[in-house]
Amino acid sequence: MVKIAIQGINGRMGQALCRLIAQRSDCTVVAGIDLNAQPDAVPPVYASLDEMPCVPDVLIDFSSPAATAKAVGYCAEHTLPVVVCTTGLDPETEQALQRLAGTTAVFKSANMSMGINLLAELARKAVQTLGLAYDIEVIEKHHHNKVDAPSGTALMLAEEMNEASGHMYEYVYDRHAVRKARDVHEMGLHAVRGGSIVGEHEILFCGPDEVITLSHSAASREVFANGAVNAAVFLAGKGPGFYSMKDMMRHE
Ligand SMILES: NC(=O)c1ccc[n+]([C@@H]2O[C@H](COP(=O)([O-])OP(=O)(O)OC[C@H]3O[C@@H](n4cnc5c(N)ncnc54)[C@H](O)[C@@H]3O)[C@@H](O)[C@H]2O)c1
Repeated sequence: MVKIAIQGINGRMGQALCRLIAQRSDCTVVAGIDLNAQPDAVPPVYASLDEMPCVPDVLIDFSSPAATAKAVGYCAEHTLPVVVCTTGLDPETEQALQRLAGTTAVFKSANMSMGINLLAELARKAVQTLGLAYDIEVIEKHHHNKVDAPSGTALMLAEEMNEASGHMYEYVYDRHAVRKARDVHEMGLHAVRGGSIVGEHEILFCGPDEVITLSHSAASREVFANGAVNAAVFLAGKGPGFYSMKDMMRHE
């Protein structure tokens, strides 16, 4: 039985995780960390990781970039494996997580759904096949409470495609400020925010007289929660290293 602590337990994803883990027999939530502490609740919720009376097997983090940055020190000190799902991290935290992976197991993915990670593989293949003759535009849509833009997933898809091309692209986020024709080395990234959209990503490959579209639509948060819990169970007992959905997909 894998003992999981959830940072951001009171949030939308934290609550989806709790509902999901309650139905599983291979893991359990032993504690939560959130701004609104409730140490007498079941499971108990603490205001910081340091207040937890015992160290869990794995930490799942769906919180805020500031909270993720703070968790790195605790995980290093306690050799605690961590599944990092929070997006919009600053470069310093990204680097700190890379260093942490030298001490303990770190699993990080801007999108925990299997489908998006398959989409990334397909996008890599498309870039390698189509080349610069096809203009790439990434469009993502999320609910009106999402604060970072473009989404971590859109950036992840862009990075995958840029890497597959041998780093041929520059990202363009805003076309209203500069009036000029599109360059073949541009990759456009566009964010839409509204209502309760869980998460939609579309990649357009626009070529001469044809457009190829790859897309993924998440119907509920459960798809991310499921991936995060599977990652936590996968990570428990693993040695130091930086793991991603690719490692878990290879394993399954
Ligand atoms: N990787 C993925 O697949 C995936 C999927 C969905 C969301 N996300 C990301 O996960 C994060 C959380 O998403 P959400 O929709 O649950 O957000 P949310 O705002 O509903 O929940 C975040 C929770 O974190 C808590 N929190 C914030 N700062 C904290 C701190 N310093 N210490 C402790 N707790 C703190 C908040 O109180 C809140 O309860 C976001 O960055 C989002 O983009 C990632």
